[in-house]
This record gives sequence, structure tokens and C-alpha cells, in this order.
Amino acid sequence: MRRLFPGSGGSDDTQLDDGGLVEAYRCPAGRWLRMNFIASLDGAITVGGVSEGLGSPGDRRVFRVLRALADVVLVGHGTAATEGYHPVAQDSPVGRLREAIGRSPAMPVAVVSRRASLDPASGLVTDAVSPTILVTCASADPDRRAALTDAGVDVLVCGDDDVDLPAALDALAERGLAQVTCEGGPQLLRTAVAAGVVDELDLSVSPALVGGETRLLDGALPVAVRLSLRQVLEEDGMLFTRYGVGGAARP
Ligand SMILES: NC(=O)c1ccc[n+]([C@@H]2O[C@H](COP(=O)([O-])OP(=O)(O)OC[C@H]3O[C@@H](n4cnc5c(N)ncnc54)[C@H](OP(=O)(O)O)[C@@H]3O)[C@@H](O)[C@H]2O)c1
Repeated sequence: MRRLFPGSGGSDDTQLDDGGLVEAYRCPAGRWLRMNFIASLDGAITVGGVSEGLGSPGDRRVFRVLRALADVVLVGHGTAATEGYHPVAQDSPVGRLREAIGRSPAMPVAVVSRRASLDPASGLVTDAVSPTILVTCASADPDRRAALTDAGVDVLVCGDDDVDLPAALDALAERGLAQVTCEGGPQLLRTAVAAGVVDELDLSVSPALVGGETRLLDGALPVAVRLSLRQVLEEDGMLFTRYGVGGAARP
């Protein structure tokens, strides 16, 4: 993988090994929310309903690095269900990378669901080493919430009729989970951008035209948001972009 932007000032350090990739994606200390997506050139984020068809070995490497650098993976219930999410296993490429950079190999996954739709019998709950977190709101069915708590899920009630994302990020930070990698999907991205809580968008641009399919955002934002380009890497025609959102401090 090579760095296209910012330039290296003429030196030959533009090729990134695993250590270089970790440094390329480090966040500033403290609270940080990054959104990680892959999209085709025409903005589709799925092929046949899932993201796998857009991926590449380089994208999977970046995906692992962004997980390894985070305290918690945040994901919408739609994405967790569609993409078949599992807990991050200690003996996995992400777990081993975390250990290699001096972090605990285990990390929790936090699922955002207004209706507390997470299945207490799913592997995401039953196989978790770091208990899975549910981010929901007070209007979610109390029996569902209780069943998830009984199954070992850490249930965070943030908001009354809808999930209050700033409050959810506060609650995660109080648990020591301040650096968040959010893996979508489009509804969660839209609501997080509209709430003004996103610091960074890491968008892999796949050299493909797909048409139709699910788009990056599932609806209009209240106002258009301008992003600032921080970094572009490239491998096999795939661009790995890193954008600052909302005037967030430069990484
Ligand atoms: N290419 C990529 O990088 C990428 C990344 C992610 C997803 N995807 C694709 O996107 C599709 C999933 O789309 P989706 O719209 O279902 O995505 P989603 O945003 O993951 O899920 C929507 C569901 O998550 C919950 N949710 C999301 N945001 C919420 C919020 N702010 N407050 C409360 N609940 C919230 C709700 O669950 P409840 O209904 O349970 O309340 C909602 O119905 C899949 O096809 C997946 O493959 C692609």
C-alpha cells in the first residue's frame, strides 16, 4: 500500500507496512469517533446486499487496523444482522494485531438499536469475551432489554423515544471506551453526522460501478457537511481516504 497524500517530500517512505498503516490511522488522544465505510465509485455500499463484493485485501487490512486502534466497534443493528457480526475474538487477526501494538486482544462490539432488536441467543452475545453492548432508548421493549441484560449484554439506555448518540458516546467514554470505530450502516452514519458527533470518515473507494443498491447515506442530511481531506493511500486501484469532519482537530 502506498501513500499518495500527503506527499513524503521526496523521500521513499511512501510504502506502508503494517506498522506504517497503524501510524497512518492513529487518532489524537481522547474521545474520537471515526466512521469506516467502503463504497463503489458511484456511492453504492453493497453488492447483492452485503459489502464483501466491494472489498480487497488492502481494505481488509485497513478494516483490521481501524478495529485494532479502537476501544470499541460501534455498529447499527441493521449492519450487524445483515453482515453476520461476531464478537472480536482474541485469537483473530484483529486480536493479534491489537496485542502486537500493546493493547488487550479483546474488545467489545456495541450495537445501536432503537428497538433493542439484538437477539440474546446470537453468537454476538453468547460468544463475547468482552460483553457486547446494546445502545438503545427508554421506549424499547422492557422485556427485550431485560432478556439481553440476563444474557450478559451491557444495556445502555440513552434517550427516551430515540437513541441519543451524544449521550451514548458519553456513556461509552465513561466505560473507558473513548476511541470508537463505527462500521455503519447508512442510517447510523446519517444520524451521527446530523448529531455532529463524527470526527472522521475513513472511506475506501472501490474501483467499481455498481448502480442501485444501498447508498452511503440512507436519506438527506439537514444541511450539507463539508469534509477535509487528510490522507489518501492506494493499493490495487482502491483509494483509502481519511477525511476530517466538522472541524475536528487534525490527526
Ligand atoms: N460498505 C460498507 O462499508 C457498509 C457498512 C455498513 C453497512 N453496509 C450495508 O448497509 C446495509 C445496512 O443498512 P441499514 O440501514 O440497515 O444500516 P444500519 O444503520 O446499520 O441499521 C439500521 C438499524 O440500526 C438501528 N439504528 C441505526 N441507527 C440508529 C440510531 N441513530 N438510533 C437508533 N437505532 C439506530 C435501527 O435498529 P432497530 O430497527 O433494531 O431499532 C435501524 O433499524 C447492509 O446491506 C450492509 O451490508 C455497508
